[in-house]
Amino acid sequence: MRARVFPDYDAMSAAAADVVAQSLEQLPSAVFMLPTGITPLGMYRRLVDMHRSEGLTFAEATFFNLDEYLGLASDHAASYHMYMKEHFYGLIDADPTRIFVPEGTAPDPEAECERYEAAIAEAGGIGVCVLGIGRNGHIGFNEPGASFDSRTRVVELSESTRKVNAGDFEADRAPERAITVGMATIFESREVLLLASGTNKAGAVAAAMEGDVSESVPASMLRSHPNASLFLDEDAASDLGRGVAG
Ligand code: PGA
Repeated sequence: MRARVFPDYDAMSAAAADVVAQSLEQLPSAVFMLPTGITPLGMYRRLVDMHRSEGLTFAEATFFNLDEYLGLASDHAASYHMYMKEHFYGLIDADPTRIFVPEGTAPDPEAECERYEAAIAEAGGIGVCVLGIGRNGHIGFNEPGASFDSRTRVVELSESTRKVNAGDFEADRAPERAITVGMATIFESREVLLLASGTNKAGAVAAAMEGDVSESVPASMLRSHPNASLFLDEDAASDLGRGVAG
């Protein structure tokens, strides 16, 4: 995995948007896997600007999301359906029939996971997968210990992840379970772009880049991906090269 350090969050976000825009220019029908969270907001803002002021079109592209909370309806304010609508899909010219987000209220969640994997396969697999990284090294909701062979499935969220995300929920209780795209599903993407910003990600970044490749640090799997890049700002890079990663 190649690492590129940018001076700040805005520069990192602009570079990430350029990766998405360039892949669309090469292939208007490109297939993307996209994250939620605080980190990608700058990238989405820039892509929306490019759509509005430069005519960048998403009309032929296909989008899959990495994950969704189990039990949350798509119109729940904290659902990832809503996040994507508010920050990206609702602001561009994406074709609603080519937007896929796991259904958190599917009556049979296991069947929903199978349906999601089948939809990815039917779309021809993922071209560009953009990811954030959790403070514990998770990617999507693949928490430490997730098998590198895993596919889209129902997972239990770690206490630390629920604590980080608690503020989005009433009574500060995040759901206990989610649907996430699997590690193998992510790894099969033709290109992976991992984004990290801020000192609170520095430890996870160092562990992923310089520690052992291990299921205990899910993002470390990307080191053996043939076309993965890590874009980070100086704060997120601040633990690299210190020999502190275990
Ligand atoms: P964040 O989340 O961008 O909100 O930090 C990233 C993640 O937990 O995957």
